[in-house]
Formats: sequence, structure tokens, C-alpha cells
Amino acid sequence: MRKPMLAGNWKMNKTRDEAIQFMLAVQDNLPKTVESVVCAPAIILRDMVKRATTLHIGAQNMHECESGAFTGEISPVMLKDTGVEYVILGHSERRALFSETDEKVNAKIKKALEFGLKPMLCVGEYLSERDAGKTNEVLERQVSKAFDGVVIEKPSDIVVAYEPIWAIGTGKSADSYIAEEACAYIRGILAKIFSPRIAEEIRVLYGGSVTAMNIREYVAQPDVDGALVGTASLKEDAFLDMALALKQVVKRSD
Ligand code: PGA
Repeated sequence: MRKPMLAGNWKMNKTRDEAIQFMLAVQDNLPKTVESVVCAPAIILRDMVKRATTLHIGAQNMHECESGAFTGEISPVMLKDTGVEYVILGHSERRALFSETDEKVNAKIKKALEFGLKPMLCVGEYLSERDAGKTNEVLERQVSKAFDGVVIEKPSDIVVAYEPIWAIGTGKSADSYIAEEACAYIRGILAKIFSPRIAEEIRVLYGGSVTAMNIREYVAQPDVDGALVGTASLKEDAFLDMALALKQVVKRSD
């Protein structure tokens, strides 16, 4: 059984006080059958981890080296020190705006696992790639390169998010059949890389303009195990509504 996941990606939003207020508002009401995660700015992670009861806390990025002359970067050692559980890796904004390559994402995944941090790998195509019929090719490349040489000990600790770039922050969410098609395809790639059993246990999320209004359509799909949500995860009531929408979802991994 795969536990449904709601993961908020706050990006460069919220101060420490705002984050604490958010936690106070949602934590007592989150359903236990859903794993609810918030990936917050690095500078407030420790304060959030200290206050976390039902929420799981994640970071949004991590450097692949343990220490060194990398001005402004955050190492796996530092993230581990905050007590954080998850780390988003390879988000399309990191790939597009900060020149992250598949090779870098691969190195980051290996380091995260070495330090006991659970990676949330983001993959997804540009609209031009979809229009050119290249979606599967892009996903195949991103997923296989990200996991090249990776040994998975606990598949339930691994998350892959399918985030079509044209749907991120645009309000133009993908149709649920498109999300299902891509998530199922990703699971197939994972089965080839690891094994069908491991692929069945890895959670695959959809992300891109998910809201409390449309989340049910996605998680009703057999291969969509939850959502990675940006904009709509910033509001307490929307976050709670989305977590409650996932409450009844059952994902069998057999
Ligand atoms: P969005 O962002 O929900 O605002 O589209 C999703 C993401 O970037 O993870």
C-alpha cells in the first residue's frame, strides 16, 4: 500500500512567523492516513522541525558536496542537522533558472540518500517537448539519469513528482488522464531501473497548478499517489482541504 502524499512546495515564500502560524492552524486537523509534507525555505527549517507534530518537513534544494567553497549553498550535512526529513531535488525552476543538469540531480540524490534524507525528484517536459511528442523521451532521460547507480533500500522513502513545466504556476493544470499517463510511464521506467516490486512502492505525485478544487481528479487515478503543490499550499485552509481530499484515497501496491 502506498500512503497518499500531499507535499507543499513553498518556494521563496513565508517568514518564520508566518510558517509557525501556518503550522498552528493545520497540524491538529491533518488526517493520519495522508502524509502531509511542507518543503520550506532553508532558513526556517529548524524552527519548523522543532514544532512539527503531524506535518513532515522538507527542504527545497541541497548541494551535492558535504562542505566547501560554495558561497550561498546548503550541504546535506547542514540539512540533516536541521532534522528535516525530505528534500526536493531537480525542480524545474532549479533546472531552468539555476542550470541544474541531470548529472547534478543524480549526484544530489545519491548524497541525500547517503545522509538519510528522502529525495523528492521532480521531472517534467516543456510544452514544446510535449507538442513534439517527446514527453516520454524526456521523462525516460530525466528519471534514468537521476537514478543512475542509485541503490534503493527503502522504496517508500523515494518520491518522484511529475511536473509538466507548462502547468507550473500557470493555472493551466494538466488533464488528469495526462497526469495518469505520465505517472504510469514513470512507474514503468522505475520498474526497468530497479524492479517491478520497488516501482510499486515508490510514490509518484502530480504537480502543476493543483488546487483544493482539482486535486481529487488526480488522486483518483491509479498511478497518481498524491500532489506536489506550490501556490495553493501557501494558504492554511487550502492545504487542509487538499489533505482531507486525500484522506479516502487508497493506493494498492500489489
Ligand atoms: P504550482 O507549483 O502548484 O504553483 O503550479 C507546483 C510546483 O512548482 O511544485
